[in-house]
Amino acid sequence: MSLSWSSKDHKNTSQPAATGQKRPRNDVGNKATVVLGAQWGDEGKGKVVDLLATEADVVCRCQGGNNAGHTVVVEGKEYDFHLLPSGIINTKSISLIGNGVVIHLPGLFEEGDKNEKKGLKGWEKRLIVSDRAHLVFDFHQVVDGLQETERQAQEGKNIGTTKKGIGPAYSSKASRTGLRVCDLLGDFKDFSTRFKNLVQQHQSMYSALTVDTEDQLKKLKEYAERLRPMVRDGVYYMYEALHGPAKKILIEGANAALLDIDFGTYPFVTSSNCTVGGACTGLGIPPLNIGDVFGVAKAYTTRVGIGAFPTEQLNAIGELLQTRGHEIGVTTGRKRRCGWLDLVIVRYAHMINGFTAIALTKLDILDVLDEIKVGVAYKLNGKRIPNFPANMDVLHKVEVEYETFPGWKTDTSAARKWNDLPAKAQNYIRFIENHIGVPIKWVGVGKSRECMIQMF
Ligand code: GDP
Ligand code: IMO
Ligand code: MG
Repeated sequence: MSLSWSSKDHKNTSQPAATGQKRPRNDVGNKATVVLGAQWGDEGKGKVVDLLATEADVVCRCQGGNNAGHTVVVEGKEYDFHLLPSGIINTKSISLIGNGVVIHLPGLFEEGDKNEKKGLKGWEKRLIVSDRAHLVFDFHQVVDGLQETERQAQEGKNIGTTKKGIGPAYSSKASRTGLRVCDLLGDFKDFSTRFKNLVQQHQSMYSALTVDTEDQLKKLKEYAERLRPMVRDGVYYMYEALHGPAKKILIEGANAALLDIDFGTYPFVTSSNCTVGGACTGLGIPPLNIGDVFGVAKAYTTRVGIGAFPTEQLNAIGELLQTRGHEIGVTTGRKRRCGWLDLVIVRYAHMINGFTAIALTKLDILDVLDEIKVGVAYKLNGKRIPNFPANMDVLHKVEVEYETFPGWKTDTSAARKWNDLPAKAQNYIRFIENHIGVPIKWVGVGKSRECMIQMF
């Protein structure tokens, strides 16, 4: 008997050999579409998710926490989502926060209430929260700040985190001392003991940390009751969604490939897997249930916080991109650093994620430029390198090889189809597509839902 390996055209044909024996059929079920950031975040994932969510039955977050800031503009109203999936706007779909997400409950309810005031009705009824998701406590956020101060003192630089407690909460999870939604909704006495132990552990590491434990527990008890109706076994919910009637399932990535804890510009990264593997582990779904993987990339590059950024433009070009692109962090209000599009990082993101198509956003921001550069390769000591360096000292040393394109100097914001775009803009887009080797499915030319050219 020969072992059979998946071929290039793998189909799930795990049918029995002709033994005459009846064997179960492996029914793959529905496939989920994944939307992921292909740079350092803020590529416009929220907008792409919103576009797809108009037809989705379920929209899921699988990793990160309220370090994410996703903007959605509908009918002139601007919403920013941090923990809530951007699909929460769609009254016909269910939004799910998966086990891989870390949840700060005060943040979650504040976000919901704030958006309710903007007209987002009934969100609590459309939201499902996995019982396996870990909790971010207020003290995790304080510790995030203390760690940043410590890094600054020890190394002369910090990471520039969002101070939302993301790193400390994922650390508690990895240390196996973290507390989950199911713990909060279980025996509260037991939860209280474990909470106190967790506080103590952190206080033994950070002497400056003061926590009013009783007050925290009182608040957490109140949040628990508000949360209870939304909580489900996330794995079983996803299983049913994947194996019931045909359903459109969308997974909204937060943060981005270059901020991934394993593949990003470590240590200047976040603390979760923002690449495609995070979709499976953060929801408890098999890889075979992943369908399209859409990468979102800006037509230039931005980065918030510290860390290497080879195509950064610390000059008038960078300033122009920052002001024209309104490049200010949604979560922290910090100015985003700006530079030319770096196709080395987008190709690297594609190596990891296997994008089936790309959404190229913010093309309109380049409308006024005389010429536009695109980073196509990195050189070290004068020689091109084929890979994306793991070591940050090396990344700081690379020399970027650029291709230069003439600017189109035309307003593209009213373009709604490919033929509305100037030939020079079409040329820029085609070059990007060919260089990455992935088709560009959408081109963004403005903030709102309708400002998206669909190519196929
Ligand atoms: P996310 O974190 O990836 O969801 O992105 P953010 O919401 O943090 O940042 C993207 C910003 O660009 C938001 O302010 C969006 O409204 C805006 N945006 C998205 N796509 C476009 C586009 O095609 N053109 C312009 N001008 N703005 C866009
Ligand atoms: P969205 O989903 C941009 C960055 C922070 C910091 C580093 C670590 O909106 O694209 P953390 O608080 O996660 O420990 O911070 O990661 N960062 C983001 N930058 N967009 C994001 O999310 C980000 N999430 C984290 O600025 O440099
Ligand atoms: Mg953002």
